[in-house]
Amino acid sequence: MRYNLCMRILGVETSCDETAVCLIEAQGRPGSTVSFSVLGNSLFSQAALHAQYGGVFPNLAKREHAKNLVPLFASTLREARLSQEHYTDVSLYQETIRQILEREPELLQQLIAFLQTHARPEIDCIAVTHGPGLEPALWVGINFARALSIAWDMPLVAVNHLEGHILLSMMEMHSPSRGTLSTCEFPILTLLISGGHTELVLSEQFGVYRRIGETRDDAAGEAFDKVARLLGLGYPGGPELARLAREAREKNIAADSTLPRPMMREDNLDFSFSGLKTAVRNIVGEEPLTEEKRLGLAREFEDAVADVLVGKTMRALEEYGAQTIVVGGGVSANTHIRARLAEALAAAGAPARLLVPPPELATDNALMIALAGYFHALNEEYADPATLTAQGNLKLAPLR
Ligand code: KG4
Ligand code: ZN
Repeated sequence: MRYNLCMRILGVETSCDETAVCLIEAQGRPGSTVSFSVLGNSLFSQAALHAQYGGVFPNLAKREHAKNLVPLFASTLREARLSQEHYTDVSLYQETIRQILEREPELLQQLIAFLQTHARPEIDCIAVTHGPGLEPALWVGINFARALSIAWDMPLVAVNHLEGHILLSMMEMHSPSRGTLSTCEFPILTLLISGGHTELVLSEQFGVYRRIGETRDDAAGEAFDKVARLLGLGYPGGPELARLAREAREKNIAADSTLPRPMMREDNLDFSFSGLKTAVRNIVGEEPLTEEKRLGLAREFEDAVADVLVGKTMRALEEYGAQTIVVGGGVSANTHIRARLAEALAAAGAPARLLVPPPELATDNALMIALAGYFHALNEEYADPATLTAQGNLKLAPLR
């Protein structure tokens, strides 16, 4: 092992509809310079397969993860071209991994074939998402990581998907495959906006999270997806809806009616997005949706979401005086929301630094899991491959 000098971490992500594997090499500790490079990275998005259901269908996600994980893992290792340490005798652990992968027979078969033909490469640990997410989907990645951890005798790290989003947003990318941890002042205020979560999180120090606001119903990304569906767009709706909103702004098209800004003026840091979806449904139900009306509605919806997200973030900033604002999760790919937040910070003369991820890394990926895994491995916070379980409702670090 190359602890303290440099560590190689394999990240595995299967919490929703992206199957992803990423191998990184990282060094340094928070407080000094932390740098990393991506050695291999593979991702398969199942979005097109789920589109017919208008959302993620958990059993289909599970099947697809099980089918694609080993090929993605193999391609990640091929890309990394690591020297191989030694061949392992598969018969020694075959029975154990057969039990672990009992419910993923196809994955088991592929993994055993892989292990028979590939020597153990120099990797220091395996980091896998153990929640939150869809449990059937999470289990596939977890069982794969448990089996590999046993087969190759590598430590296992359980990663909270939400922490992965946050830490990735805190990285400064110097190229698509190299980055460093941004130097930033605490407290950090994070706006976490994804398909399943909308939260405001305060960190007084690195790796410690306190939730100070959250959605009471739909998440921001969920609202984008549902409204996109009402507007007749495909899944996932966020990027498509954002594209229509941009087109509406370029063509100067506005909606006839104004949508609500739920909870925006309430004296708290919580969100609610389900009313927005209902309001769009009522408008759409009234009369046929012309192209102009669709564009106007997309723009008004995006404006409403941006108003609420920016309003609550600024309220939290006032209340907690954060020095750094981090935005993470799939919806942070949205350029309009980013721009609106940057404008609000500038208008308020707020000295806080704004950290956003590169748009292509805002949505789910395994780099974020490998990175979060690195910080836990540094602290030797390992999981037991015999007992690690999926936790669909895992919260972002219990209040500490
Ligand atoms: O973080 P993520 O990939 O998955 C979860 O952890 O949930 O986020 C996915 C969500 C989807 O709801 C998708 O529609 C939304 O992020 N999204 C966007 C954009 N790109 C992705 N929403 C608004 N604008 C975008 N450009
Ligand atoms: Zn996510």
